[in-house]
Parts: sequence; C-alpha cells; structure tokens
Amino acid sequence: MTPSLPHPVWHDGDPGSDDAITLLTLLGRLDAHLLGVSTTHGNAPLSATTHNARALLLLAQREDVPVYAGALTPLVREPVFAPQIHGVTGLGDVELPTPGREVRSEHAAAALIRQLCAQPGEITLLATGPLSNLALAERLRPGVLRQARQIIVMGGSVDVGAPKLGNTTPRAEFNAYADPHAFHIVLGSGANLSLLGLNLTRQVAVTRARAAQLRDTGSQAGRFCGALLDDYLDRIAKLGQTAGALHDPCTAALLLAPELFESEAARVEILTDSGDHLGETVRVEGEPNVSLVIKADEVGVYELVATALGHLA
Ligand code: RIB
Ligand code: CA
Repeated sequence: MTPSLPHPVWHDGDPGSDDAITLLTLLGRLDAHLLGVSTTHGNAPLSATTHNARALLLLAQREDVPVYAGALTPLVREPVFAPQIHGVTGLGDVELPTPGREVRSEHAAAALIRQLCAQPGEITLLATGPLSNLALAERLRPGVLRQARQIIVMGGSVDVGAPKLGNTTPRAEFNAYADPHAFHIVLGSGANLSLLGLNLTRQVAVTRARAAQLRDTGSQAGRFCGALLDDYLDRIAKLGQTAGALHDPCTAALLLAPELFESEAARVEILTDSGDHLGETVRVEGEPNVSLVIKADEVGVYELVATALGHLA
C-alpha cells in the first residue's frame, strides 16, 4: 500500500539524546506530519523524558504538537535508567529552553488508542524507548496495535553473533531490558512491526565527524544535535567504549527513506525470565512476527538527518 503523504506519524520515546535527534528529524521533514509525542520511563525518569519532549518541541518552534506522558514504570520489573549514557536530565549536559506548553492530561496509552482508532491503517508509530505505553494500549484495547500502518521499533539485538549481544547486559539491549514484558506483548500483537536492533543500529556509527556534520547544518537544532552527540561520545569514552551508534534516528530514516535499508521476515521472541538472559531477544523458527532490519546505509542516514535538521530554525 503506497503511504499517503505526508506520513501521519506518532513518536513514542524516552528522550534521551538519540530520541531527541529522531524527534527533530521528523519535525524537519515536510513529508512527516507528527500527530503527537508520547513519553515513557527509560533513559531517564518519566518526569525528565516528558520535560525534554516539551523542550524539544519549543526548540523546534512546534509547540502545536501535543505531548502525552505515559508509563512511570515498566509493567512488571523494577525501573532501570541510563544516566551513565544520557545524563541525569536525559539530554546530557546540553542546555535546553524551559518549555512553555503543558503536557496533556490524557495518558499516553489512551491517546495512542484514540489516535490509532481514529485513523485505522494510516499512522506509522515510531517507538524508540521501552515499549510500556504500546503494551498498555494493547492490554487496554486488544488489537489496537494492528490499527497502525506500521510500528517501527528500535530495540533488541538479533543475530549479532558476536560475544557481546547487548549494550545493557552482555545479552540485552536497553529498550528490551527496561521492559521485557512490554516487548513480549508488542511482539505478539500481530501488528506490522519493523524491528531495528543493535545488529542494525551499530552499522550507523557516531563519531566526532558525524557530530560535526549535524552541528554544521547551520540551524540551532543542528548545533543542539551535534552537542548531544559530543556529550554522548564523552560519556561512553568514560565507560571505555570507543564506538557509539545512532540508534533511534534509524527509525525515522526507515520511514522516510526505506531504500537506505534491507530487511527480512523473521520471528523474534524475548526472554522474560529473571537472570542473565532477561531481556535477551532471540530469533526462532516459526511464523514471522517482524520485518527484521538487517542492513543500513550509514552515509544515507546521516545525510537524511542532517538535511532535516537544516530545515529547522
Ligand atoms: O539501546 C539503545 C536504546 O536505548 C535507544 O533507544 C536509547 O535511547 C536507549 O533508550
Ligand atoms: Ca530511546
């Protein structure tokens, strides 16, 4: 089905530096109509991720886009955050304007249900944080995720094959690990899922040169995103990591330029038993439940992001 332009899009995430770049990329594209932003616990507590979403929309002069706060905690496990990567604020040490417009009173899960039912088959949902809001929506209204035209998820780590599969535990990626039961519900929803795991996002490396590429777009948003990537590189260097990855913006790039990627049908499940394997995503035999994205054009992704940021103030 040829998507209608502009694409109606909803962004659910845990801003978070790479979520922020994703959101600003969407806002910089005239062929993306951002219906709403919903926030979840994840990189930082819900209060911080929600504040950051509101501040980012002010930065982009798009406070017309509504923000809905969602899950304060995962469905079952105890909350985990990532201050070592994203700082206590969720956006590192990068300053943001104080947001004006208040968050809406409707819970993110309720807003997702309302919007997906109002436009069945039309909305692409980008999910760049733990999947708690999506899972809550599916539990409240079974089948609602199948109303999305497509759900593009950054999460998990599949078929990497290397000894280190994860980025949060040796086997688990953060979004999957932070709410594995939610991830399980979304994988089992029957929705049109595209899954971008670490096996994919690690093909789009973050370097000082890439930070400069975003900073040099000439817009305030570009300078802000360049600063976010530099802050991210500073933080992972302290952890002994040399290579970062542009995880979340790959979801926007897949929506807006699918030709930059290769995918294959796969069945992916997540381990929810406590212990060393909690949050590990595994590829198994059986009926496919995702379009697993396996190859990315790094140069093309950065060109798309940089061009979009250059369209902003
Ligand atoms: O593992 C990377 C993912 O976890 C990204 O979405 C990042 O923002 C964090 O949420
Ligand atoms: Ca994220």
